[in-house]
Amino acid sequence: MKTNSANQNWKRPLKRTGIVAPSVMIFLSSFLTPLGADNSAKSEDAWVSPARAARKENPFPADAASIALGKELFVAACLPCHGPAGKGDGPAATTLERNGTPVKPGNLTDPKLREQTDGALFWKIGEGRTPMPAFQETFTEEQRWKIVNYVRTLAPKADNKNP
Ligand code: HEC
Repeated sequence: MKTNSANQNWKRPLKRTGIVAPSVMIFLSSFLTPLGADNSAKSEDAWVSPARAARKENPFPADAASIALGKELFVAACLPCHGPAGKGDGPAATTLERNGTPVKPGNLTDPKLREQTDGALFWKIGEGRTPMPAFQETFTEEQRWKIVNYVRTLAPKADNKNP
């Protein structure tokens, strides 16, 4: 009998930790996982559009007229930061910051930009991200889609090895 009750005293705290420990782990991991997974500054900086926005299709074909209009708007509104060729070297590029940290404008000639859908670029142009302004009030949807068509011409095509 003595041994039995001793056993049960042992069982209890063991049982408890058996339940408590995993739930504590789950609780903690809900905080730790994002930190662990996104520890590098690079992924923390990544600007990703919502999947739903990225799926939106560009209703305007990338024809010469549409690209020409997109270019006109780009020169007026985007060039100061993104530069004449979209390399992120516009006259205002060196003065940009977010929460006191210097930020570079996106390099729109990066071939990686090709991997983003029109919908994703459209969303980013509409929403902005400090210090980049949101353009959804400045430009109509049509204008923004045409800017996307122009921005598409800045990055070399992925299959073109010698742009
Ligand atoms: C005041 C400066 C500024 C202006 C004006 C500006 N941008 Fe930006 N843009 C930025 C900065 C800074 C980033 C990088 C934001 C980040 O990643 O945190 C950026 C990022 C982007 C990206 C995302 C690039 C990527 O890697 O996903 C696109 C697309 C873009 N800008 C397009 C435009 C277009 C088109 C215009 C004009 C309609 C414009 N921007 C005007 C500063 C600017």
